[in-house]
Amino acid sequence: MPSPHRIASRDLPPGAVRRAGPWAVGNRDGEVFAVSRRCRHQLADLSGGSIDADGCLVCPWHQSTYDVETGAMVRGPQGFLGLHRRIPGYDRAVRAYAQVLRLRVGRARHDGDDVVVD
Ligand code: FES
Repeated sequence: MPSPHRIASRDLPPGAVRRAGPWAVGNRDGEVFAVSRRCRHQLADLSGGSIDADGCLVCPWHQSTYDVETGAMVRGPQGFLGLHRRIPGYDRAVRAYAQVLRLRVGRARHDGDDVVVD
């Protein structure tokens, strides 16, 4: 069984997202979560993301959002993605792909002064 990954609780205040090994670990108003770090769109590191008003994890690159309880993408990439025009159906296609390949969801918990993901 792999050893758990740890992060000091003081480094994970409410609203923060941090890296713990292969996990993006976040604090939603005291409730901690962990999901795999690579965005299903273009593999951005989700530990550099943020938490929106609905408690979803927001990708730092193109603002796709994820339900951290299921790992499902709930909103696809935003903006022009480096292109000069929108591609019809692109957002829908990315979301469909991401529904098949959801983020992994880890079990995050408080353990003394740390948050642990197993
Ligand atoms: S890499 Fe995450 S939305 Fe593009």
